[in-house]
Amino acid sequence: MFAYLGPQPAPLLPRFDGFVAGGTIRMLGRAELPVNWLQVMENSLDPIHTEWLHGHHYEFLKEQEGIKVAISAHHVKIDFREFEFGITKHRLLEGHSEDGDDWRIGDPVVFPNMLAVGNGDEKSRYFSFQIRVPMDDENTLHLWYNAYVPPEGVSVPQRLLDKVHTYDVPFKDDKGEFIVDNVDGQDMMAWITQGAIADRTLENLGASDKGIATYRRVLRREIKKMQQGQDPIGIVRDAARNACIDLPNEKKKHHNSDGFASFMLRTHAKYSPIAQDLVNVFENPRLREATEAALEAQHG
Ligand SMILES: [Fe+2]
Repeated sequence: MFAYLGPQPAPLLPRFDGFVAGGTIRMLGRAELPVNWLQVMENSLDPIHTEWLHGHHYEFLKEQEGIKVAISAHHVKIDFREFEFGITKHRLLEGHSEDGDDWRIGDPVVFPNMLAVGNGDEKSRYFSFQIRVPMDDENTLHLWYNAYVPPEGVSVPQRLLDKVHTYDVPFKDDKGEFIVDNVDGQDMMAWITQGAIADRTLENLGASDKGIATYRRVLRREIKKMQQGQDPIGIVRDAARNACIDLPNEKKKHHNSDGFASFMLRTHAKYSPIAQDLVNVFENPRLREATEAALEAQHG
């Protein structure tokens, strides 16, 4: 997942929050994508795609099945700010306040090749990373790493804690069609159908592509620094700084608002071998009550 290819001495392996938090339930999804890593990353700097690809497009597909859903939320404005490890992206959705986490804190794009997505509120706290490892110019190993903090008072079966649970995330079905019934499938469809390496000479970047322009500018600047023998952004050499790197992250994320189970089923997490266990841990009040009762009896 991490490699350092620069000159010696090698820096420290960065200890990002979700990788070092104790007592979490961890899982790792993977897909090999037949595309260059950069167009996958550029998608992470485009907040507005959610409105169309995961919103209107999904609503259209459901309408074909005769189901009326309204999940697209209009972006009033977007913003991008540099921070110690990269760029945070910010969105203000229609009807939301500028005091909300979506606008104030945002989601960090950790340079050069990682996206960290909101880590939920107290009831469903988790760390979520999308890591894009270049295999060669035309292939990318895409990893989804999630670490869930069990809610207080819920006893978690030991087998869930013992290892990182791994799974493959498919992007095509048996008929060779793209799987677009979940958010990550929709993203993969959009990344892959651009071709192995998207032809940027055909682009006409507009105002809503501000994030992509920012990302490219910072990437070029950091490459130049490297060429001059300096460390690029995100290199950690200070052990004290590296004890735990807390990334800026939203706690009350808009897309979690319809509940844990519903959100999970709309993402790559539906393919996880522990998907149902996670729903039980986070959403099953009877399990929680039974656990509490058992604990009480124990302490009796
Ligand atoms: Fe997306």
